[in-house]
Amino acid sequence: MSAAVYKVPQDAEARAKINRSTYEQWYAESIDNPEAFWSEHGKRIDWFKPYTKVKNTSFEGDVSIKWFEDGLTNVSYNCIDRHLDKRGDQVAIIWEGDDPADDKKITYRELHDAVCRLANVMKDNGVKKGDRVTIYMPMIAEAAYAMLACARIGAIHSIVFGGFSPDALAGRIVDAASTFIITSDEGLRGGKKVPLKVNTDKAIEIAKKQGADVANVLVVKRTGADVAWHEGRDIAYEEAVAKASATCEPEQMNAEDPLFILYTSGSTGKPKGVLHTTGGYLVYASMTHEYVFDYHDGDIYWCTADVGWVTGHSYIVYGPLANGATTLMFEGVPNYPSPARFWEVVDKHQVNIFYTAPTAIRALMGAGNDHVTKTSRESLRTLGSVGEPINPEAWEWYYNIVGDKRCPIVDTWWQTETGGILITPLPGAIDLKPGSATLPFFGVKPELVDAEGKVLEGATDGNLCIADSWPGQMRTVYGDHERFIQTYFSAYKGKYFTGDGCRRDADGYYWITGRVDDVINVSGHRMGTAEVESALVAHESVSEAAVVGYPHDVKGQGIYCYVTLMGGVEPSDELKKDLVKHVRNEIGPIASPDKIQFAPGLPKTRSGKIMRRILRKIAEDDFGALGDTSTLADPAVVDDLIEHRENRK
Ligand code: PRX
Repeated sequence: MSAAVYKVPQDAEARAKINRSTYEQWYAESIDNPEAFWSEHGKRIDWFKPYTKVKNTSFEGDVSIKWFEDGLTNVSYNCIDRHLDKRGDQVAIIWEGDDPADDKKITYRELHDAVCRLANVMKDNGVKKGDRVTIYMPMIAEAAYAMLACARIGAIHSIVFGGFSPDALAGRIVDAASTFIITSDEGLRGGKKVPLKVNTDKAIEIAKKQGADVANVLVVKRTGADVAWHEGRDIAYEEAVAKASATCEPEQMNAEDPLFILYTSGSTGKPKGVLHTTGGYLVYASMTHEYVFDYHDGDIYWCTADVGWVTGHSYIVYGPLANGATTLMFEGVPNYPSPARFWEVVDKHQVNIFYTAPTAIRALMGAGNDHVTKTSRESLRTLGSVGEPINPEAWEWYYNIVGDKRCPIVDTWWQTETGGILITPLPGAIDLKPGSATLPFFGVKPELVDAEGKVLEGATDGNLCIADSWPGQMRTVYGDHERFIQTYFSAYKGKYFTGDGCRRDADGYYWITGRVDDVINVSGHRMGTAEVESALVAHESVSEAAVVGYPHDVKGQGIYCYVTLMGGVEPSDELKKDLVKHVRNEIGPIASPDKIQFAPGLPKTRSGKIMRRILRKIAEDDFGALGDTSTLADPAVVDDLIEHRENRK
């Protein structure tokens, strides 16, 4: 824990919409009287029919979460139409291509045109309110059009990150029962092509065997690659939108109508379809975007995430556009064509607010300061971090070298489930401590509890729960409300359990220490160890597998796999390579194992439960502190695992 404190810079405070005393006053109001607080702030978006009810939520029993429940609105209307009078010619989206010579600017009026046309193409092909549309796209403006077009007609989008494999895509198509898919011929990242249409075709074949019935695939041209065409099913985007009408009335949506499903990993089973709804989500995404980044009219805002993750949903598309901002969408990667790319883009587009992940910061830090210092970065005012704990060294580098000691860093803690940022500094209000997400946002009531559920007070360590609902919270697991209750509300009665461990210091600052369940965070990508295990055991040579995370300098955590082979199969380096390839095929490149250790046996209790604590210690090369191994069925397996460990320091 770093002891350094960075005071709010005077100019940040002078400029800020929220200073310390406003923060304290609003926070107290939001906790003492959430009804009144959110009744007021719910008005930040436009409603076709205003709500009369504000909060109707219960974390007990069946768990029911409703916000603004009798209001009618539309997310696409709020992100586009309501800005047209004042900002029709303002740039809504700056698109920066993978190739630095490739960029374009889309005004709010152009965005309106594109979204209406696409919405009409979907409608003409039978997509209706409530239908699920799967989006499997590269970071091109059409991905944002697709999201907004779904929102406009009330279709529920399910975005699948372009780095996922056909198998992973198929699972999500089946679970959501999507009938319409939007993809592109290929993606382009770091000069490499990603075969999105080929993957989509494969996924549809797999999904068909599991009962899915995909009627149409809308294909956006990105690279112009020659792709297989299924007449009657596939639709060429460019031709279809050219013919479609540019007028499409936004559907009147109830505040609690679903907006999107986004699959995320948990500690057990298949990825869960996190369901977010309309009104509360947009209020929360837009409000956090404005205050956490201290967004002002005219600012150029850049979040480097992918729309395949929740950060892309809330802080590239919905939050910024609801606020009438100019949001930058980047197709490429941080180190292409060189590790100076981020900062060159900052200078090129005069970016004021920059939001990225610690893994990118660590990777760029490793590439040396020259790539940064040769650029100006004078336009930068606020820096942000998200996705995993940021280590103080990376924080200091980001602050001193990238931000030239001028720019507050907002270390924002949140989750796919929370819809928006929950614990974070506000740049003009909260003194910073490197590595701490600092204090809760308005309406957020964090609690630290011990294993028995006792609420701990003062400076302490504990499991992080949130005691009451906030408008951006997920409403259910799509198609499985029981799983929602079990996953988030059963460990500690009446509280939302985040799955994260956390420390609170004497100043009341929160320090997220990482997951306390079997979820790992690899380069900011969240992964269930169970998913990687099930991919491994699907290989013909594997009889059993256990996967744990271990500290990794750049990725935050690496993937360490213990693999027991089928009788008669010989361990070899060849086989290791094959297993890596196999996992990439089953899940995607983001799940590539970093280390594979062949293990004749795994440490199990007498009742057959794998003792992951021991496996984690060995993977960390910290086996001096294995603790009590006397309950193991066969303590000798531990000696073999230690002897053959892959992570010798
Ligand atoms: O462990 C926390 C970590 O990322 C998890 C949520 O992952 P995901 O749903 O993919 O959403 C990531 C983007 C919001 C959390 O349970 N996490 C996220 N932000 C931080 C963080 N850990 C520490 N500090 C953060 N700022």
